[in-house]
Formats: sequence, C-alpha cells, structure tokens
Amino acid sequence: MLTIESLTHLGMGRASDGQSLLPRVLPGEEVDVAQDGTLRIITPSTDRVAAPCRHYKSCGGCAMQHATDPFVAQWKQDIIVKALQARGLTPEFRPIETSPAQSRRRAKLSGRRTKKGAMVGFHTRASDTLVEVPDCQLLTPNLRDSFAALEALTALACSRKGEIDLTVTEAALGPDVLVTTDKDLTPQLRVELAALANQFGLSRLVWNDEPVVTINPPVQDFGGTGVVPPPGAFLQATKHGEHTLLAAVDEITHKASRIIDLFAGCGTFTLPLAKRSELHAVEGEAAMMEALDRGWREGHQLRRVTTETRDLFRRPLEADELRHFDAAVIDPPRAGAEAQIETLAGSDIKTIAMVSCNPVTFARDAKTLVDAGFAMPWIQVVDQFRWSPHVEVVAPFTRK
Ligand SMILES: C[S@@+](CC[C@H](N)C(=O)[O-])C[C@H]1O[C@@H](n2cnc3c(N)ncnc32)[C@H](O)[C@@H]1O
Repeated sequence: MLTIESLTHLGMGRASDGQSLLPRVLPGEEVDVAQDGTLRIITPSTDRVAAPCRHYKSCGGCAMQHATDPFVAQWKQDIIVKALQARGLTPEFRPIETSPAQSRRRAKLSGRRTKKGAMVGFHTRASDTLVEVPDCQLLTPNLRDSFAALEALTALACSRKGEIDLTVTEAALGPDVLVTTDKDLTPQLRVELAALANQFGLSRLVWNDEPVVTINPPVQDFGGTGVVPPPGAFLQATKHGEHTLLAAVDEITHKASRIIDLFAGCGTFTLPLAKRSELHAVEGEAAMMEALDRGWREGHQLRRVTTETRDLFRRPLEADELRHFDAAVIDPPRAGAEAQIETLAGSDIKTIAMVSCNPVTFARDAKTLVDAGFAMPWIQVVDQFRWSPHVEVVAPFTRK
C-alpha cells in the first residue's frame, strides 16, 4: 500500500515509495497498485468527489474532476505561490475566480473514420485511443451541439486510417471550424464541404490554411466591438475568464491615457480599453493585427488604436519607444516575455498589467520587474482551465 504525499504541478500524485507518480489521486489517500497497474483507492481523501462528467474515467481531456472545487482552487493557487516564493516574491492573493462548467468555448478535438462512419472526441490519457464525449461537461452546449457536424466533416475529410484535428470555436452565428489534415482539398471535396457547412450551420470552415466557406463571419465580441479572428487564432479559453482578466487589466490601467498592449492577439484587451484610452497593439501574427485593425475601424466610439506586427522575442520595444505610454498590458505565450520585460524594466513606464498562463515564466518576469523597482501589490488566479492542471494569473506592477 502507498500513501499519496503531494501532487505535482501536473496533478500527478507523488507516492510514499519515493518513485511512483500516480494519476487521479489526492494527498493523504492510501492506494494500492496491482501488478497489472490497476489503481485502487483504499482510503479516499475527504476532498475526493464523484466526477461530474460520465466520460471522466476514459477521457483524457480533464485531469482533476475527482477533487472538490475548493481543493483544486487551493492547489492551483499553491502552484503560483511556490513559483513566486522560489523568486522571493510574496504578493497578496485576491480570491481565485474559476470559470463554470460547460463554459470552454474553444476546443481541439480529433476525428477518425470508423466502420459505421466517423467519431470525434478527445484522446484517453497517454494513449492514442479516441473517446467520444457527447456529454462533455467542459465545453459549452453550443460546442457539444457541433459534434454532429464534426463527425460528418470527419467522414468527408479523414483518410481511412489517419486522424484529423478539428479546432472548433464558438461564434455568435455558428461554430467556426478549422480542419487540419493531410488530405488534399479537391474541387469536388470543396463543394461537399461547403454543402456540409450550410447544412450544419457552421459560420466558417477552413481547411488547413485555406478558407472553404464563410457563411456568416465568425465574429467575436471584445467589449462591444466585433472582430473576425483568423482561423484557429488565440482566444481566452472562456468568456468568463476573458471578462475576469479584462476587469483586472482595466482596473490596473484605469488612469492611463496611452497604453501599449504587448502580445495583443486580436484585441481582447485593446478594443475594450480603447473605449477610454488610446492604444498601440503589438503582436507577432500579421493576420491577428489585421483582424484587430478591421474591428477597430468598424467599431463605434473608440479612441485611436494603432497596430504593429512585430516579433517581441527578437525585437522587443525599446525604452525610447515605450516612453510614449503611461501603461503597458503584457500577455505573452507560455515562454513568457524575458526580452520585453527587460526593456520594460529599464523604461519609464509606471504601470504594467501582466497576464500569464505559465507560473514559472511569470515568476521569472515578475522578479525582473520587482528588482527594477516595481511593486506587485496583488495577484489574482483566474482558473479558466477548469479540471485541468493549467492556470492563468493577472497582476499589477507599479513603480514605487
Ligand atoms: C496568450 S496570447 C494573448 C493574446 C491576447 N492578449 C488575448 O488576450 O487574446 C499570446 C499572443 O502572443 C502572440 N505571440 C507569440 N509569440 C510572439 C512573439 N514572439 N512576438 C509577438 N507576439 C507573439 C501570439 O500570437 C498570441 O496572440
């Protein structure tokens, strides 16, 4: 028998033998692992609950449904606490915000052909087996309703043996679907796909890099301004997460009349903030900048927004370019923003709102700012990746 001592940041249980890493267990639990690897919980934790989703046992999409919400919230917050403590940082934590069940508005599913037709779902844990998840508790009801369309698409798009990736995003007038496949898009297939998109009410269907049909522009609403993101473009995982992050970014930058939005995406923060401040949005993907710019031009009662496509890892904005701004918003990918944070630290900028999905790079970048004289008065964990080990944070940095 083994006792679970703690969880790794990926949610695996460290066992008392000092070597086993076990899935779907909780600290304090006594477990038995049979010769064939079957895991039996002998003494369950008081934090253990019956998984809300009937697919949890087989599906690998979620990792933490066997734990109570308060346990998961505390565990996620502790991951951030430890990453910051390792850098000597101890900010005050605001209460965690967790997105509700059935609120994930974007998902990457897989599809494959079967004898009867096609199936769509998530892979099981650490294996290639695909599991159908018609009652998935993570995705919005609209995304779940799109499964029939995705199956029909798979039947058309997938070769007999392979698998395809289906990136589906909820949009106001029907799902926005990106198919990633090695099958060629023939003229005949194009006609069939367009008919399928029409039949199932997809707003847009894109085949690898090639738009097949746009029936309705797949508009996303950023604070009242509509933007049509390029296919598969980054979006915050839930509307709730987006609103919570935006509320914090808005609060942090409320006094700024000129703001620079670094790693701006399609304008999740830029466009809502443009209702009261001027913004310069910088982002590596030209198509996202074009989408943001078009949204701004068609928007109403927005202050001036300028855009710039730029690789911020290789060519971060230098201190003299930053001197035009009162505040910066920075929301880098998982790698963080080491080079850009260095130049921000050496600039005259007084206020920074930093958003991050990686505790380790966030702590590294936060430390650089604190060492340069910024204070980090608080931090908030926003759990828009419910039941997964992922976590998101937002924090202000202000010059002392
Ligand atoms: C976490 S997303 C944030 C996007 C946006 N702030 C939002 O909330 O929708 C990070 C963004 O950084 C962009 N990005 C990744 N690497 C980059 C780089 N080297 N230079 C500039 N932008 C980059 C991605 O395209 C993506 O849009």
